[in-house]
Amino acid sequence: MSVPSRSGDPKVVFEGVSKVFDKKGEPLQVLQDVDLTVAEGEFVCLLGPSGCGKSTLLNIAGGFERPTDGRVSIDGEEVTGPNPKRVFVFQEYGIFPWASVWDNVVLGVRDRSKEDRHRIVDEVIELVGLKGFERAYPMELSGGMKQRVEVARALAVSPDVIYMDEPFGALDSLTRLTLRSELLRIWNERNPTILFVTHDVDEAMQLAERVVVFSARPGRIADIVEVDMPHPRDIGSPEYGRVKNRLYELLGVTHMI
Ligand SMILES: Nc1ncnc2c1ncn2[C@@H]1O[C@H](COP(=O)(O)OP(=O)(O)O)[C@@H](O)[C@H]1O
Ligand SMILES: [Mg+2]
Repeated sequence: MSVPSRSGDPKVVFEGVSKVFDKKGEPLQVLQDVDLTVAEGEFVCLLGPSGCGKSTLLNIAGGFERPTDGRVSIDGEEVTGPNPKRVFVFQEYGIFPWASVWDNVVLGVRDRSKEDRHRIVDEVIELVGLKGFERAYPMELSGGMKQRVEVARALAVSPDVIYMDEPFGALDSLTRLTLRSELLRIWNERNPTILFVTHDVDEAMQLAERVVVFSARPGRIADIVEVDMPHPRDIGSPEYGRVKNRLYELLGVTHMI
C-alpha cells in the first residue's frame, strides 16, 4: 500500500517498516509493514491504542531505533541515526531544573554566534508565549509553561521535522486545549513537518490534516483519515462528528455511553 502525500513534496517516507523486539528471548512484533508518506509541512497525527508501536515508529523515524525491515527516508535520504534538524518533544519534562528558561532554550543553539543565539532564543520564547519568563526557573513554572519551554527549545534549532510523542499528555485538559491551539498557530507561522503521536481521538481531530490510525500490536496502519476542516474546527459540526465516529470505529471502540 503506497499512500500518496497530501500536499508538498514527500518529506518523511516510511517503506515497509517492521520492527521486532526481543522480549526475554521471545520475538515481539511491534510494527508490521508500515507504508506512509508525510508531505513537507504537513501535520500528521499517529493515533492508536497504547502499546501499538507509535513511539517505536517515531524513534525509528528519528534515527534512535533501527527497523527490522524496511526503511525510513527524509528528503530522499535513509535515516540511519539522529540528526539535530529533527527534534523530539516528549511528555516528560526534559528541561533542566537548574537552568533558567533562557538557558534551557539556548542549549540547542549554543554553537551559534552570540548575536544569533540571542535573536533566536528571544524569538522562540516570544513565539511560545513565554516573554517575561526568560529568567524564571522550571520550579516556578506550571506544567503547561514547562511544555512551552520544551517547544521553544525544539523550535530554536529551526527543525524541519518535529516529532511529538504525546507531548501534552500530562497536562490538565484546559491547558492541553490552549497548547494545541498555540501549536497550530506556530505550525501556521513556521510550517514545519509535524509527526504527532497521540491516543486521544479529540486531540488528533483538533490538530491533524491527516490521522494515521494504527491497529493494536503489531501496529499496522488501519486507515488514514483526512480531516479536511479549516481551523479553528467546529467540534459541533456534522463533519466533525462523522470523522470522529470513523476514528472510533477504526480503533474498534464504542464511544457512546
Ligand atoms: N526497546 C524495547 N525492547 C523490547 N520491547 C520494547 C522496546 N520498546 C518498546 N517495546 C515494546 O513494544 C511495544 C510498543 O511500544 P511503544 O512503541 O512504546 O507503543 P506506544 O507508543 O504505541 O504505546 C510495547 O509492548 C513495548 O513494551
Ligand atoms: Mg508511546
